[in-house]
Order: sequence, then C-alpha cells, then structure tokens
Amino acid sequence: MKAVVLVGGEGTRLRPLTKTTPKPLLPVAGVPLVERQLQWLGAHGVDEVVLAMGYLPDAFVEHFPDDRFQSIHLLYAVESEPLGTAGAIRFAAEHAGFDDRFFVCNGDVLTTLDLSAFVDFHVAHEAAATIHLSRVDDPSALGAVPTYPDGEVEAFVEKPPPGTAPSNWINAGTYLLERSVLEHVPAGRMVAIEHETFPLLLQQRGQVYALETDDYWLDVGTPQTYLRAHADVLEGRLGLPPAPDARESAPGVWVQGDADLASEVEVEAPVLVGVGASVAGGSRIERSSIGAGAEIQAGAVVAGAVVHSGARVCSGAVVRDSILGVGACVESDATVLEQSIVGPGASVPAGSTLAGGRVPVAASSD
Ligand code: GDD
Ligand code: MG
Repeated sequence: MKAVVLVGGEGTRLRPLTKTTPKPLLPVAGVPLVERQLQWLGAHGVDEVVLAMGYLPDAFVEHFPDDRFQSIHLLYAVESEPLGTAGAIRFAAEHAGFDDRFFVCNGDVLTTLDLSAFVDFHVAHEAAATIHLSRVDDPSALGAVPTYPDGEVEAFVEKPPPGTAPSNWINAGTYLLERSVLEHVPAGRMVAIEHETFPLLLQQRGQVYALETDDYWLDVGTPQTYLRAHADVLEGRLGLPPAPDARESAPGVWVQGDADLASEVEVEAPVLVGVGASVAGGSRIERSSIGAGAEIQAGAVVAGAVVHSGARVCSGAVVRDSILGVGACVESDATVLEQSIVGPGASVPAGSTLAGGRVPVAASSD
C-alpha cells in the first residue's frame, strides 16, 4: 500500500521550535515524529510514502539521504506555495503516480490504529473515502464528524465553536481515499479537504464513511500535546519501548548508549536520558525526556519537561512542564515553567523566571 503524509504546515503553535525544524522532524522521546509515523505505516505493510511538503522541505530530504526509511521508499512532493490539505494530497499523489487507493496521514498524528482493519472497513462499505475517528472531550480545535448508525458520515464540521460540536468523535487525520476522490479537488489553488472536499463528497450519499476506534491517538500540534506525547510514549501507551535503542535501567528509567545518570540523582519514572547526556548527582528528574548530549547540573530540577539535544540546565535551575530547544540554556537558579518554550540556542538568564513564555531562537530578530 501507498500513503501521502502531509508535512507541509508551518507548525505555528510550536514556534519557536518549528522556526528551524519542521514539526514532523521534532523528536518525541528522541525519535522524530515522522519516523514514529513511518514505523507505524511500515508495520502495516505500507512500502511507498510521498511526503507532501511546503515548509522547510530540504530538512526532510537531508534527514532521509537514501530516500528510504526502513522498508519504505520515500518520495518528495514540494509545493511552490501551500495548496491546503486536499490540494497537497492531489499534488503529491499525482507526483508519485498513485493509480490505486492510498492512505493519507496528517503529519502530526500519533496513533496505533490497525490499518488492516481500516482497509477492511473501507472495502466492506465500498467507500470513496474513509476517515478514522477518535473521541475527545473538546472537539473545538479539531474536525467534528457525526455519523449515521452504519458508519456513513453525516457531516464534517471543522473547528466547531466551543459547545456547538455535533459529535465528540473527531477526524483523527488518517484517511483511505480512492483515486477518484482527486477528481473533486480543483488543481492549482488552495483546497482544504476539511472545508471543501469532504463537504462536497457528502452531497451524494454512500461515499464517505468513518471508523470509530478507541486506539491511542494524539495530535502533537501544541506545546501541551507535544509534552503529553512524551509522557505517553514513556509510559508505553504506544505499545512499544520509548526508543528502539533505549534500555530500562530501573522500572520506567530508560537510558540510551553511554548516557551518564549519576546514582545520586533523584528520579521519578518515567524518564528517558539520551546518548551522551549527563545528569549530575544532586539533581532531580521527574517524568521527563532528556535529549542526547544534554547536561543537567547539580541541584537542578527537571519535571514534566522535554529537553532537546545539547541543551543545558545549570545548577539550581528549575524546568517544569516546559520545552528546551536544541542547545538552549537555562542559567543558574533560573525558573522555567507553565509550558514555556526556550528556542534552539536561546538562554534564560540566571535567576530569572519564565512562565508560559517563549524565548526566540538565538540570534534571531523576532
Ligand atoms: N503539504 C501541505 N500543504 N501540508 C499541509 C498544508 C499544506 O498547504 N496545510 C496543512 N498541512 C499539513 C500539516 O503539516 C499537518 O500535518 C496536517 O496537514 C494537518 O494540519 P494542522 O495544521 O495540524 O491541522 P489541525 O491539527 O488544526 O486540524 C487537522 O487535524 C485534526 C486531527 O489531527 C484537521 O484535519 C482536523 O479536522 C483534524 O481533527
Ligand atoms: Mg494538527
């Protein structure tokens, strides 16, 4: 089977992390999000994936120098300007010469959906398009999808104002599309599948179906869900160890390679400490992911946090429920909390407090 993975968005809600790295290449517990997705697709027999790109496309090509990820052959479709989700799907599928049904995935979704069952459902309903649905408490930031009892989609309501959603079942961002669906996507302009193509297909009955499942599902698009993705991966909610090369040195304490986790560190599992990272005695690490080569100095506290590779938390500093970009630095006795993001290479001055804030990428003017 073949798939289009939509990776063209700018990831605005995760700035400044996405200023230099596209969202699908951000690590989730040390493994780029797109690799977690490709791993899942490959495990279900997908052997050809076209990445539908727009924003920072070179980063993907450089990341996959052999145009392969494990058993998957990768192709790249680069839009000269954003075509929207449906425009990007059409452009990518034509670029790759897809001539049969194919999967589509939003490039920021983690899920354990059984794609074989998804195909069986699609075939049994003779659908033109099948949408995976997941249930959430608040659909207002997503696409709400009410269905008839047989699974046919009744309506598609993108980003319903709070309290107005017709269903708590939402578009989980995985589709199976017959090639004929592309005929309903005008070429050469921006077309959103959520706003235009699905509503158009729904004008004729019997075309669009949806499979509701309670599989693990998360859209990793905001600081809150990016942090949650780490917690979920470390807790094993995706059904796999956090990273292929991680070993469990104590229950829920995962270390990679030569990571140096001093024995006098206070640890509250789950944690992951990446290759070459050092965590000094007298520090405290709770439910966090520490990237490769990062340094946590004595007396520092890192809790519910994501520390990217090469970042530094100096003595006496506290990082709580926040994200430190590659090579970022929290100087001595500084405090970073409440879903703050410290951009790649940026610093938080000694003794200062950052609560729910953003520190831009170092040497950048924004
Ligand atoms: N190539 C390309 N071109 N990709 C795009 C474009 C584009 O013009 N616009 C968006 N994308 C990609 C993004 O990179 C992302 O992977 C995916 O399309 C979805 O975009 P988001 O910006 O993450 O959308 P969302 O999270 O607000 O909502 C979408 O996903 C939800 C589930 O995760 C919608 O599809 C909702 O209906 C859905 O519930
Ligand atoms: Mg999203």
